[in-house]
Amino acid sequence: MKPEKIRYAIVGTGERAGVFIDAISGKFSDSSELVAFCDISQTRMDWYNQRLQQKFDKAAVPTWLAKDFEDMIFTSKPDTVIVTTIDSTHHIYIIRAMELGCDVISEKPMTTDETRAAAIFEAIDRTGRNLQVAFNYRFSPLASKVRELIRDGAIGQPLHVAFNWTLDTAHGADYFRRWHREKENSGGLLVHKATHHFDLVNWWIDSTPCDVFAMGDVRFYGKSNAEARGETYSYERYTGEKHAEDDPFALRLDEREEFRGLYLDAEEDSGYIRDRNVFGDDITTEDTLSVTARYHCGALLTYSLVAYSPSEGCRIAITGDKGRIEIGFEGRLGKTFVACRNGNDSVESKTPIQVQPMFGEAYCVEIPHPANGHGGSDPAMLERIFSQSPPQDDLCQNATHHDGGASILMGVAANRSIETGALVKIEDLIPLQVTAKI
Ligand SMILES: NC(=O)c1ccc[n+]([C@@H]2O[C@H](COP(=O)([O-])OP(=O)(O)OC[C@H]3O[C@@H](n4cnc5c(N)ncnc54)[C@H](O)[C@@H]3O)[C@@H](O)[C@H]2O)c1
Repeated sequence: MKPEKIRYAIVGTGERAGVFIDAISGKFSDSSELVAFCDISQTRMDWYNQRLQQKFDKAAVPTWLAKDFEDMIFTSKPDTVIVTTIDSTHHIYIIRAMELGCDVISEKPMTTDETRAAAIFEAIDRTGRNLQVAFNYRFSPLASKVRELIRDGAIGQPLHVAFNWTLDTAHGADYFRRWHREKENSGGLLVHKATHHFDLVNWWIDSTPCDVFAMGDVRFYGKSNAEARGETYSYERYTGEKHAEDDPFALRLDEREEFRGLYLDAEEDSGYIRDRNVFGDDITTEDTLSVTARYHCGALLTYSLVAYSPSEGCRIAITGDKGRIEIGFEGRLGKTFVACRNGNDSVESKTPIQVQPMFGEAYCVEIPHPANGHGGSDPAMLERIFSQSPPQDDLCQNATHHDGGASILMGVAANRSIETGALVKIEDLIPLQVTAKI
């Protein structure tokens, strides 16, 4: 049994923080308590405080500007700090919170480069504190079932993984409207987004990557790509821009209460523009990516990510020495499933998973239909984090800094490979004493 009322402080009160704030203030309020918010924007913190009062009938919690993070810890005395800031700042709060005696839950990616990853590992060794990385995708019924199938030997020893993920012009474009478009903020999509995907592969096949080669380019977003297609734009951002009325990439912050409160009203105090034109000229994050990797277990991976596809979804195939699992869905984390075969009969697709034994008939594997919240993954992850009697972790879904490190190092190595044109060995990126623990 967990002790009563764990005290949580949240640093980074943007959109994602809402998932944790609502869980602590709502379903899990018997066991959890919010004690402070911290951000560079007073307006965003105030917006969440208003929501606490209006939605949950709770008192506002004390707010602290980022520069006063330490004072927040001393005064509010959280047990655990939840880090939901922009990616390139995660390490600052993870490390300082642990030094000041707190455990930490960090959003993915754990951090954005190898130096910061090594510093986090060192801080954990030094302080003995605990870091959990919020890999919600692991908790989706789809991902859990794949882990279970492989663990139970459905395809034998995994030898090859083909993993293709496409983001559409709504979801994919969103990484180019805001801070993610500058690679220094997010590590690029191979760190920011692919950390989910690399973590799934690592977890499914129970191994970590060692050799990585990658190519990546900005081919679709950005001013020069638009101009090469004969498109010119007169506006820097979308909201309030008359000429953007028919622009299919436009996001209008004044049309949704949450966007107005969290971003439009907060522009003055943080300078954060949430709706920049995706065809602006300062984009350094690649939108077209291919990675090849070898794992310590010997398995090979081919991975691709495209951020401007007409449709969203994924196709994954994991081939082992006793069979193959194929996974396919359209939409965000499994809204619509692609065709699945039972034996020779084509059946209406009710499941995204098909298993083909090496010498047997293919069969479909049913999973519970995904609920809301990233294909059902958010509610299940929150239950595991906040419940007083969480479900057993039979599939090892709880992710640590080892998992956070292993998945970002694949992205970091891939970024290095893009820069140098060479194959990158992960053991060359950070000291052996750190990689040995991953
Ligand atoms: N697991 C998931 O599925 C999932 C989904 C969305 C976002 N995320 C992660 O959550 C994090 C936040 O993403 P978001 O979509 O909420 O972004 P966001 O832009 O809405 O929020 C980021 C917040 O960080 C704050 N911030 C920026 N610099 C800061 C600093 N130096 N100190 C303190 N606060 C600072 C901003 O003011 C803002 O409030 C990211 O790491 C992202 O990868 C995870």
